[in-house]
Order: sequence, then C-alpha cells, then structure tokens
Amino acid sequence: MAVGTRVLPKKLFIKTYGCQMNVYDSARMADVLAPLGYERTDLPEGADMVILNSCHIREKAAEKIYSEVGRLRPLKSARRAAGGDMIIAVAGCVAQAEGAEIMRRAPAVDMVFGPQTYHRLPEMVARAARAGTRDAGPREGGPGRGVLETDFPVEAKFDHLPDAAAPQGVSAFLAVQEGCDKFCSFCVVPYTRGAEYSRPAADVVAEAARIVAQGAREITLLGQNVNAYHGAGPDGREWGLGRLLRRLAEIDGLDRLRYTTSHPSDMDDDLIAAHGEVEALMPYLHLPVQSGADSVLAAMNRNYTADEYRRLAERLRAARPDLALASDFIVGFPGETEADFAATLALVEDVGFAQAYSFKYSPRPGTPGAARAGQVDEAVKADRLARLQAALEAGQRAFNDAMVGRVLPVLFDGPGKRAGQLAGRSPYMQAVHAEADAALLGAIHPVQIVAGHANSLSGRVLAPAAGAPDMPAVVAPAPDAGVRA
Ligand code: 5AD
Ligand code: SF4
Repeated sequence: MAVGTRVLPKKLFIKTYGCQMNVYDSARMADVLAPLGYERTDLPEGADMVILNSCHIREKAAEKIYSEVGRLRPLKSARRAAGGDMIIAVAGCVAQAEGAEIMRRAPAVDMVFGPQTYHRLPEMVARAARAGTRDAGPREGGPGRGVLETDFPVEAKFDHLPDAAAPQGVSAFLAVQEGCDKFCSFCVVPYTRGAEYSRPAADVVAEAARIVAQGAREITLLGQNVNAYHGAGPDGREWGLGRLLRRLAEIDGLDRLRYTTSHPSDMDDDLIAAHGEVEALMPYLHLPVQSGADSVLAAMNRNYTADEYRRLAERLRAARPDLALASDFIVGFPGETEADFAATLALVEDVGFAQAYSFKYSPRPGTPGAARAGQVDEAVKADRLARLQAALEAGQRAFNDAMVGRVLPVLFDGPGKRAGQLAGRSPYMQAVHAEADAALLGAIHPVQIVAGHANSLSGRVLAPAAGAPDMPAVVAPAPDAGVRA
C-alpha cells in the first residue's frame, strides 16, 4: 500500500458455529481481513461482509446455514438500497462438504470457502467484489459469479496465515495441529479438514512467546486431534506433544498449559509422563471415549477397547493423581444394543468424569457409519441419551461438590454472574465465581470454594497470605510412572 493511502474501515460480522477450532479460525479470518480495512462488529445489521463459519459435525448443520442466510437477505437488500453492499460468505466444514450445493441453492451467498483456504481470503474478497454480489434482484448470477474455494492446498494454511494479531486476553488459544487421519466411521472431520498436519515446533514456540508477551498466562493448544502432534523440531527431529509442552512450559510468564482435543491411541508415554512432570500442564484432560462397548468401538474404528481406555485413565492418574478427565460420548451408533449401552454406563461409573459432552449418533453423508446396517431408532437414542446424561451430570455434580472447602488457584478472566463478582477457571476447568476486586482480573489467586453447583463453583477470595492453594503441585512420578506398557 502506498504511503499515506488510507483503507476505509468496513464492518465484518462473523457468526461461529461448533468447536473451539472454529472460534479460533474466525479470529484468524478477522486477522487476515484487517489489512483490507475490515473491523469486527457484533451485529449483522450494516455489515459490509458477513461470514458464517459453519460446523458439519452433527445434523441440521446445512439447514442452519440456509435459514441464517434467509435472515440475512433482507439486511443485504437494505444495504444495497442504501447504496452499500453486503458480501455473504459461508466458511468452515459445511462449506467444504456442500460448497457447490450452497452456491446453487442460496443465490444470496457470494462466497463459499473451506477451512484450508482462509489465507487466500483477501484475493477471494477482491474477486467477489469484482464480480458484483449475486442475488442483485433477478438472478444475474450464473456461471463465473460468486467465489467457491474448497481445495486442500499442499501446504497447510498455517504456513500462509499471518500470526494472530489481536491480543486474546489472559487465556489464549493456539492451533498447533489440524486435520485428522483417524477416520472414525461416524466423523466428517477427515473429509472436511483434510489430512493431519502439525506446525513446526519453533513456529509454535515463537507464537506462544508472542501471545504471552501480549498478556496471556494460559495457552490452550488446539487441534482436531492435537495429541497426534508430530511437528518438525528445531533439532531436526520430530517432536511429539509431550516434548512441545515441556518446551512451552519454559516460557517465562506462561503459567498454565492445556490441550484439546485428544485421541486415546495417541497418548504416548512421554505425553503421559508430562502430566506428572510439567507443572504448568493443568490437571484436566478432555479424552473422548465415545462408547464403553468393544463391538461399538470397533465399528467406530476407534482402535482401542473399553478396558484399554480404563487402563489409560489409570496410567494418567498414576502420573498425575488429581487429574480430572472429561470425555465425549455417542449413543445409538448403528448396531448398539441395550447391553452395549449398559457397558457405556459401566465405563462412566468406573472412570468417573468431571465433565462430558454426549450426543445422539447423527449419520453424516459420505461417512462409513451412515451406510451401516442396524441404524438405531430415534426414540431409543433419545432414551439412552437421557440416561447417559443423568449419569454424567451426577458425576460432574459430585466432582464439583468435592471441591467445597478446598483452596484452588483461580485465573480470573472476566466479570462474574453478579455485580462485584469476577469469574475465572480452576485448574480443573470449572467456572468459579467470587466477590473480587476488579484488580484481580488477569491474576491467578487462591480461592476457597464454598459451594458446588451443576456447572460452576462459588468461592471466597483469600488474602494471598491466607494460604497457598491446597491442590497438589505436580506430583513427582514414581521411577517407572508413565513408561509402563
Ligand atoms: N454423530 C454424533 N456425534 C458426533 N461426534 C462426531 N461426529 C458425530 C456424529 N456423526 C461427536 C463425537 C466427537 C465430538 C466432537 O462430536 O463425540 O468427539
Ligand atoms: Fe473425527 Fe476425532 Fe475421530 Fe478424527 S479422531 S475422525 S476428528 S472423532
């Protein structure tokens, strides 16, 4: 840009569906568009560009996008009547899976682009603007109008995206891995996000150091299958996630590390040991199990048995005794019997989860699960989901109640439920609300827990001298902890 040239500010509204990775991607799209003058706004009214960052993991994903586009159309017409314009774009996994269909069915949509193309956004926006928006009255669209980009480039998008620009606050996210090669038979991710790719370790460390310099004290490493991380190390060797976490923990001022989400088969010895040895690594792990029945796990192509998962939980807790486990479950996968479902309830009982997400199986077009015999009746799925959720909620409540009386270090990161309160996170990811001076925002401070609730804790802020938190610091591992087969 020539010196002295000003880019006129434009309004960008991004609506994000689905997972944390999509939230992260939305922020990166905003970063890429910032040099073009786009500033994020909280409302679609008056926006120059609207991006719907979609998620395809469960049902009705595409329908949600079509109805949102329907709601946007009058806003787009209003902008045009006022002499402006509104580019409507669909991004994310629905865009990847159904790009051409969206272009055909929704003339109000000007751009459709998949998750691997965000670094090319400036060029795509320019092309869309040059073509003129579609749906400008009678269909003057036709071939060649609109922008459709769903390629998987050879290099991953990380290599092309600029570093995240805006500070993320005290608790930040950093994508280190993306895509997935696991091909669980229920899941669209390997198709919509492409092959597994890990960022080089040095790039991750440099970006983490920058994020900390911008004020973050906690970083959550993100990836569709984050513990499959195998990035090139600065020493010329391949680094696993354990090695990366150990290196990141050396960054001054980085007090908390987390990672999500993981596959049980990728919990290698070094990563398990890191849970016992890296003080900054928080004692909370989201480790989706999906089912407690071996036949269902095999049909899902998960590559472990229920007992292998139980043993893995034991090994993790041998390394870090206070580790809280969270999980994901699917009920009603094709062929799941009542006995299979009972095995899932038994696993919930045995392992004890601090938190969990559970879903009815949703056949995803193009995945092997969708074509399997033995699809389970919707009413049966709903009944099993209700029973599973009751068990999971009871487990979560018991976990929260067990915190009462304890002193936990809380990272305060926002306003609380009521005036005069702040909200923060315990090491175990619980939301904690406490009366606190606003000066504690961004601090990690000891809080005595006075009540447990279904989804949060209430606490009392202690004066720093009143006591160190009573959660175990990292527990020194027994000589063979974490390296048993
Ligand atoms: N049906 C239901 N749940 C699904 N998940 C992924 N695909 C499906 C599907 N087809 C769930 C899994 C996964 C989480 C992100 O979403 O539990 O871990
Ligand atoms: Fe999907 Fe996770 Fe399985 Fe990969 S490991 S296919 S992202 S459920």
